[in-house]
Amino acid sequence: MKRCDISELFQEKTVVKMCAPMVRYSKLPFRMLVREYDTDVCFTPMIMSDSFVQSQKARDNEFKTCEGDRPLIVQFAANNVEDFLRAAELVSPYSDGVDLNCGCPQRWAIKEGYGSSLLKNPELVRDIVLRVRNTLPSPYSVSVKIRLLDEHRETLSLCQSLEAAGVTFITVHARTPAQRRQPPNYEALQLLCSSLNIPVVANGDIHSLQVAKEVALNTGCKGVMTARGILENPALYAGCESTPVECVKRWVTLCLSLGSSFNCFHRHLSLMTGSSSVGVGNSNPGIIRNPMDRRFLNCLTTYPAVIDFFSREDIFGNEFLPSF
Ligand SMILES: Cc1cc2nc3c(=O)[nH]c(=O)nc-3n(C[C@H](O)[C@H](O)[C@H](O)COP(=O)(O)O)c2cc1C
Repeated sequence: MKRCDISELFQEKTVVKMCAPMVRYSKLPFRMLVREYDTDVCFTPMIMSDSFVQSQKARDNEFKTCEGDRPLIVQFAANNVEDFLRAAELVSPYSDGVDLNCGCPQRWAIKEGYGSSLLKNPELVRDIVLRVRNTLPSPYSVSVKIRLLDEHRETLSLCQSLEAAGVTFITVHARTPAQRRQPPNYEALQLLCSSLNIPVVANGDIHSLQVAKEVALNTGCKGVMTARGILENPALYAGCESTPVECVKRWVTLCLSLGSSFNCFHRHLSLMTGSSSVGVGNSNPGIIRNPMDRRFLNCLTTYPAVIDFFSREDIFGNEFLPSF
């Protein structure tokens, strides 16, 4: 399939709308679903570059794609140049870019020198970008996803050194690694945008198309990225206020035709219908409103049982049955 030039996309579109990398979630069927609802670019979940490079089994498990799954950016966790570069070379024929995770705040990641611990090692991040840029030339995209550092000048200095190394764009989750539920610091994004020439993608609490547009306008970011919002409403970028029934139906059809573990299929279904017992922070009331029905859906363990449930007259009725 023809490669997409991500830099060109930023020039063509007023705002490039991205689906975030999400471990266990942003897999092939979900990417194909959100592409039907105006998502411009999708990320894979974060993949460990060391095992990806070493093992065919890891490659088969962690990276599945298909015709139409483009533009696609593959995100890796890496703590050295060689692993990231080799992983990038392996996926470059099937993707439009690679992304380095510099935002994961989990303890295991920090201990091993992955994720947000890289924010404290800007030389390594720059070297990784530089080597990929020199080995896999433009238009193949090389990007970095960061969180904010405590001091603005540190964030800016990191971004400027990545710009000089040839990074295609930078996604900024507008919180520091220590912050969890605090409101995102969009002012910091605005300051970054005013000092950088590369596109900056805004991330953090973008739960509707309206918010996406406002954040882009107010910060000068050329792109927006959503994670929890798009899990709860995969049609978010199409301007839908909550998940349309048709979108749930497409999810079932895509999982059956592209293949998905039952667990992944079911977890997404719970989130997009507002039935999840864990929730991801949005206030979406959901399309399954009766608590008994939500509990019932959450207990189902097979595809046919789920399809029977949605085909019930009092849920979506017979027209719900998936079509191929
Ligand atoms: C279920 C889940 C999995 C995530 N996995 C990743 C990941 O693989 N790589 C990454 O950079 N960020 C990951 N994140 C963080 C998101 O990409 C995003 O930065 C964060 O959730 C803030 O955006 P939001 O407010 O739109 O959710 C994950 C978030 C969630 C909720």
